[in-house]
This record gives sequence, C-alpha cells and structure tokens, in this order.
Amino acid sequence: MTPDIPSPAGFANPVETWNRRYAAPGYLFGTAPNAWLAEHAGVWQAGQHVLAVADGEGRNSVHLARLGLRVDAFDPASVAVDKARAWAAECGVTVNFSVADVEAYDWPLGTLDGVAAIFIQFADPALRERLFRRMVDALRPGGVLVLQGYTPRQLEHKTGGPPLLSHLYTEAMLREAFEPAMSLEVLRDYEAEIHEGQGHAGRSALIGLVARKR
Ligand SMILES: C[S@@+](CC[C@H](N)C(=O)[O-])C[C@H]1O[C@@H](n2cnc3c(N)ncnc32)[C@H](O)[C@@H]1O
Repeated sequence: MTPDIPSPAGFANPVETWNRRYAAPGYLFGTAPNAWLAEHAGVWQAGQHVLAVADGEGRNSVHLARLGLRVDAFDPASVAVDKARAWAAECGVTVNFSVADVEAYDWPLGTLDGVAAIFIQFADPALRERLFRRMVDALRPGGVLVLQGYTPRQLEHKTGGPPLLSHLYTEAMLREAFEPAMSLEVLRDYEAEIHEGQGHAGRSALIGLVARKR
C-alpha cells in the first residue's frame, strides 16, 4: 500500500503530488464516506452549516450534503475537486467547493455548526497548530468537530497515511491541541480494518475525536 505521501519530496510539492495521485482513474479513497464520520454525523442536524477540510474527491462532503447539511469544502488539488464536483452532481447534491490550501482558504470565524477533518495529516506540527486553530476559530460556541487520523502504530501497518511520526496523532496530543477550548465528547484510539478505495486499505491504527466548542 502506498502511503498518503510516499516520500519526503512529496511534502515539498503537495499539490503536484496529490494531483498526480488523484489523476488515476476512479476515486482514490472511494466514494463511501469515512466510517468515523458516518458514525458521528448525527451530531449535526439537517440545515446546519458544516465545513469539510481537505476534502479530496468529495466522499465526505457529499455524504454530509446528502444528510441535508449545508456544506462547504476545500482542497488544493484541483484534480480532486473536479472529481468531487462530478460526484456531487451524480448524487444530485450541492456542495460549495473551493480549490485552496489551509493558508489560502477564506476561513469563516465563529459561525460554523461543524467541521469534518478526516485524514488531514499532511500537516507538520507547525502547520497543524495553525490548521487546528483555524478549525476551532471557525466553529460557533456549541459547534462540533469530527476528526479522524492515524496514530504512530500506523507506521507498522503501512496501510495509508503519511510515513512521518511527527504528522501522526496521539490521544495526549489531541487533548493538548483542543482542550480547554473544546469539550472532548469522544476520543478513541483503536484498530480497524478499513477499505477506503486504494488509498487506505487494510488493518489500520486509528484515532477518532468528536469535540464540542465551549
Ligand atoms: C489523505 S487525503 C484525505 C482526503 C479526504 N479528507 C478524504 O478523507 O477522502 C489528504 C488531502 O489533503 C490535501 N492537502 C494536502 N496538503 C494540503 C494543504 N496544505 N491544505 C489543505 N489540504 C491539503 C490533499 O490534496 C488531499 O486531498
């Protein structure tokens, strides 16, 4: 299985690297939503406004739109966003897609009911700090973050995710990143067999978070 970004060089040119990966036929991570997101999407009600961060080919944003949510999504890989637009059209839903990276995206401030952050481990510790701050700041009080990532044990499984320890999450790291601004309602470190296209496939060391802004 190829890791999410196979070599350190890929991190120097993330857009080129990701566009090349997404240029292959089909959907790299499939069209079914991430299981952690699907399990916890009930935290939001139809009509609420949610942002899907680094949404790739749209499997997660389209799922949320199908639940009746008002969905914004961004990703810097235009090839992925084109595919996401096609998937949304095929499903008959509207998602407000943008081609942008974390720094260029026009983040809202204090208004969102939700943020979905699924496998956004492209971020090194410095970018991760800025990214997590943006996500928390974008939520209104009571707004909910649903996040999924890999833990360091994933370096043994090699079934997806970046091959860099500094990009992976632990429970302690997520507590430190989000408390006390957020109340952590679910924080689970677990292993599961996942099949998300060719990109994430097999036994995986995962961490899931559901957190509510205070
Ligand atoms: C592992 S994929 C996950 C995609 C999607 N969240 C999903 O679960 O299907 C990581 C995504 O992060 C995007 N990405 C890489 N660098 C980024 C950056 N600096 N800002 C925002 N997104 C970025 C990539 O284009 C890619 O779509």
